[in-house]
Amino acid sequence: MSEFRLPDEKQARIRSSSFRTEIVRDPVVLSEEQKILGNGLNYFVSTYGCQANVRDGEVICGILEQMGFKAVEDMALADLIILNTCAIRENAENKVVGELGFLQAYKRRNPRLIIGVCGCMAQEPQMARRIVEKHPVVDLMFGTHNIHRLPALLQNIIVNDQRSIEVLSQQGSIFEGMPTIRSSRHKAFVNIMDGCDKFCTYCIVPYTRGQQRSRLKEDVLKECRQLIDAGYKEITLIGQNVNAYGKDLKMGYDFAGLLNEVADLGIARLRFTTSHPWDFTDEMINAIASRENIMPFIHLPLQSGNDEILKRMGRRYTREQYLDLYDRIVSRVSDVAVSTDIIVGFPNETRQQFEDTLSVVDYCKYDNAYSFIFSPRESTPAARMEDNVSLQEKKERLAELNGRLGEYSKMRNKQCEGKVYDVLVDGVSKTDSSVMSGYTRQQKLVNFRSEKARVGDIINVRITEGMKNSLNGIDVSEKRAENE
Ligand code: 5AD
Ligand code: SF4
Repeated sequence: MSEFRLPDEKQARIRSSSFRTEIVRDPVVLSEEQKILGNGLNYFVSTYGCQANVRDGEVICGILEQMGFKAVEDMALADLIILNTCAIRENAENKVVGELGFLQAYKRRNPRLIIGVCGCMAQEPQMARRIVEKHPVVDLMFGTHNIHRLPALLQNIIVNDQRSIEVLSQQGSIFEGMPTIRSSRHKAFVNIMDGCDKFCTYCIVPYTRGQQRSRLKEDVLKECRQLIDAGYKEITLIGQNVNAYGKDLKMGYDFAGLLNEVADLGIARLRFTTSHPWDFTDEMINAIASRENIMPFIHLPLQSGNDEILKRMGRRYTREQYLDLYDRIVSRVSDVAVSTDIIVGFPNETRQQFEDTLSVVDYCKYDNAYSFIFSPRESTPAARMEDNVSLQEKKERLAELNGRLGEYSKMRNKQCEGKVYDVLVDGVSKTDSSVMSGYTRQQKLVNFRSEKARVGDIINVRITEGMKNSLNGIDVSEKRAENE
């Protein structure tokens, strides 16, 4: 395996205060041979996980199309299949491992088929080794730090008939000007930073995505301006922890400033994710409260409602600080919706500690929530903590929590009944073109009937029914609004 480059756990953990982000502009310059390498070949990219992965998937598609590959919707027709993986929990990984087993049959049918694995699983040292050794169907592996190397890696496979395995442990750069095929024409993710330095004790992201690197404000604004010029209606600024944006640049600007400047560009809808409660500033709340085009929706991961567990998670806030932030947000941002993430069954979590989480849920009555059983992740401190809570107990707690969360999201959605909301139209039902779906400003999914709405319109929908996970409604727009 000596010709392969695989990640190294110790290096992935290093954080250096003297580290300076190198900005590499237009890193993908194709040779004449690379430009035609994919001619006549079809590709399929399967993306798992978070928005960062979705954005990476768009870049991978952009590179492949420049090389002459054509996208297909049916995986069975592809000559190149890339699994863009997530490592956040074991079940995310199990899906990919299952998929690799399934792809063996494809490979038997078509020995020229190229199978690739990239994303966060490739960045985990043990997992990367396991894939290389146990899954010979995998011809291609690259990580989150070297997507720009895809043309050379594919060339090595197609021309030299060799496996290309190249995963780097340490990030160095921010890549500007990567080729991109956007997955929507009216909604776009704009990456404002990569990596994370928070090191919550359960989380693998700081290892798989490396040290925090913020993009220059000018580059973010330029990308947003281009999207607005191209007719986009919604931009979501993404990062593992957007509140920390700019801290590493030491150039005197922060996330609140960036939010205001992007809002000033005049995009109809501006969102952001994910924000860590620890450094959620009053300036951010002011921006959200005062700007009509910053959406009143905040994802505020709680993880636990117990101080001792929060401390062992390395979250750096207490239950009281979280609730105080929640109060400040809901009292200042009108019509705001709040969602959260919660982990149950953190090592040695007691019944009483779990009940502290339930009591925060009772207080916040979240509009929406994602809940998970703790999953030990390679290299993280929490994976080495003693844990005397049985899986059965964890499952029962999750079911109890989900019951409670479901009641509140249904209650919040029922409160929408009879009211009219602005909805950005996302799509049309495949079976009935008069049934469409979209999202309110509060990021609530609405299914509605309309004869005239088009994808990308912002329309008025009267809510007829609020359910646990979505709303039903009817289009009551007098005339099609161009902007909100
Ligand atoms: N186990 C369970 N859930 C996790 N999350 C992150 N790491 C783990 C883990 N090891 C959850 C957190 C985070 C969300 C994206 O995934 O709640 O906010
Ligand atoms: Fe999954 Fe985290 Fe990687 Fe996103 S950054 S794909 S959530 S492990």
